[in-house]
Amino acid sequence: MSLKPEHPLVDGRTADSPLVRAYRGERPERTPVWFMRQAGRSLPEYRELRAGGDMLQACLTPDMASEITLQPVRRHGVDAAIFFSDIVVPVLLAGVDVRIVVGRGPVLDTPVRTASDVLKLRPLDPAALDPVRQAVAQTVEQLGSTPLIGFAGAPFTLAAYLVEGGPSKDQIRARSLMRSDPQTWATLLNWCADVTGQFLRAQVESGASAAQLFDSWVGSLSREDYRRRVFPHSKRALDHLRGLDVPKVHFGLGTDRIFPDITALGVDAVGVDWRIPLDDAAAILGEQFTVQGNIDPAMLTAPWPALKAHIDDVLERGQAARAHVVNLGHGVPPETDPDVLTRIVRYVHGERDAAE
Ligand code: CP3
Repeated sequence: MSLKPEHPLVDGRTADSPLVRAYRGERPERTPVWFMRQAGRSLPEYRELRAGGDMLQACLTPDMASEITLQPVRRHGVDAAIFFSDIVVPVLLAGVDVRIVVGRGPVLDTPVRTASDVLKLRPLDPAALDPVRQAVAQTVEQLGSTPLIGFAGAPFTLAAYLVEGGPSKDQIRARSLMRSDPQTWATLLNWCADVTGQFLRAQVESGASAAQLFDSWVGSLSREDYRRRVFPHSKRALDHLRGLDVPKVHFGLGTDRIFPDITALGVDAVGVDWRIPLDDAAAILGEQFTVQGNIDPAMLTAPWPALKAHIDDVLERGQAARAHVVNLGHGVPPETDPDVLTRIVRYVHGERDAAE
């Protein structure tokens, strides 16, 4: 099955946008820029809308998810919207009791730790994704020529939350399961790949013009473990997009050691964290990949001249790749002054008064 004729990539709305062109390897006149976690707590209008409400409930309320997705586009003039949701949404929709605790992240009261816990995981009923489909459809309707990026968590990062029961420092319980019971591990990662793959596919089918896989915690793995015990499942998650001609992006923290493996995932662009310069990343990745990144989030509080010099350096190093999409090296910290983000967008877009 391919994209429908009325999909924004097919009907002409987003195919020529700077973001889609850059993901596909071109260098548009305007360098595209967006921010991971641009929809969220750095925006007063987000905090107002969300006040007191449950995070995952907000994700599953189409009017709210759509409005939050649009807020940063209106305010900053970024080159893409990213769908307001969370990596654990498909896990919740498959019946796992997960919630999001402010300041911590996803938490499970009953973690998935044993072979019998894994066997209890049920498949995701496609109908459960209807609120996601509706929110995406409604959002792209409003976005016009600005592309929406759909996203999902990679199987390893999701499994890390499921096994640990919450955020963890180096995913020791998850990695122990991987080592002590590889069979159960493989079953768990396949389950994660399928629910997250279905979630990603639903967003693309409903109108997302790009798809990003977040493997935030993959940096805790050795290269060998990644290759043998994780990569095949990330590939399986992305395989859910088969037949849909949409640019694909991979992002993780501390991924430079596994860049050579990431190039085999079949993505078009690779997100780079703040630890490795983009020209070094491009040298490892080669000419077939667009790089995305990598303004250090820690620089967002620096005086403008220092931040500007840092952005210049990022732009300069980004020239080493076939194309470049500007982003942060990780998500926007909640305490960020939103005006700084707006200024970065205007500066990257070459608006002269933003430079002073
Ligand atoms: O703007 C966007 O980027 C789109 C929405 C988005 C959210 N989470 C919303 C959110 C995206 C793409 C994610 C991905 C996500 N979620 C990742 C991968 C990216 C990364 O940051 O590494 C991970 C690991 C999660 C799991 C998760 N969910 C965490 C770590 C947290 C933060 C906990 C906290 O309070 O610090 C969440 C909750 C979450 N997801 C919030 C938002 C806006 C904050 C919820 C709130 O308003 O309190």
